[in-house]
Amino acid sequence: MKKRFVIANWKMYIESPEEAKKFISILKRKAASYEGVDAWIAPPFTILPALKGMKFGGQAVSANTGAYTGEVSADMLKEAGASFVIVGHSERRAHSTGSGQAAGDTNEDVHAQLAAAAGAGLSTVLCVGESERMPDGAHFTKIAEQLSSALDGAQSLASKLVVAYEPVWAIGKTAKDAMQPDEVEETVIFIRKTLADILGRKDALKVPILYGGSVEPENAAKLIADGGVNGFLVGHASADIDSFVEILKACRR
Ligand code: 13P
Repeated sequence: MKKRFVIANWKMYIESPEEAKKFISILKRKAASYEGVDAWIAPPFTILPALKGMKFGGQAVSANTGAYTGEVSADMLKEAGASFVIVGHSERRAHSTGSGQAAGDTNEDVHAQLAAAAGAGLSTVLCVGESERMPDGAHFTKIAEQLSSALDGAQSLASKLVVAYEPVWAIGKTAKDAMQPDEVEETVIFIRKTLADILGRKDALKVPILYGGSVEPENAAKLIADGGVNGFLVGHASADIDSFVEILKACRR
């Protein structure tokens, strides 16, 4: 796969349309020359319309319509001009705790959201990743479950699918705490193989696999060179225009 993707997940870091517009105008100027690297932006819902002219999308989507307070549906995102949506981000998933399951999206919810988003014609960025690495490799089982339940019966959606591997323990730290490229590569191989089992080898090869978790200008070049990924899903460093441009630059071929 030649093309690389760098997706900015702004979370709630960029708060106003003015700030977003300023960011985008600098981005367009600085990053125009990075051929082969697609920059996508996932802003907070309230500033989606400020990003016209960029490839932008939602950070989350509801599988429902109607009486769901505070939710946004796939059709609403599409209407606002979004072309993709992130589903299954670990900050929205339910995590097991010592005393049970904390509130949040289950694998079944993620499946329904992915189907709703794809049904509305949106590309989907499916996040998977373990909360912790287990010595017996049990984290791979968790990743396989996340993939197979999200994509169950959704094989036809492969052409608009991006998978982002985000180990929860590596999110929101600094480059020196991020996952090392060899571990990323090992997991990406596992994800590609699991996708081949679900989607068939030919379609699995077309799905971009990104890494997310403390990607910063300091580690981006090494991760893209040795991590076996097709790009990144970037959190905190994507809200700083200089850092984001440096990460895009690292992804040039
Ligand atoms: P950080 O880059 O801040 O670790 O966040 C990663 C992430 O959650 C992107 O979706």
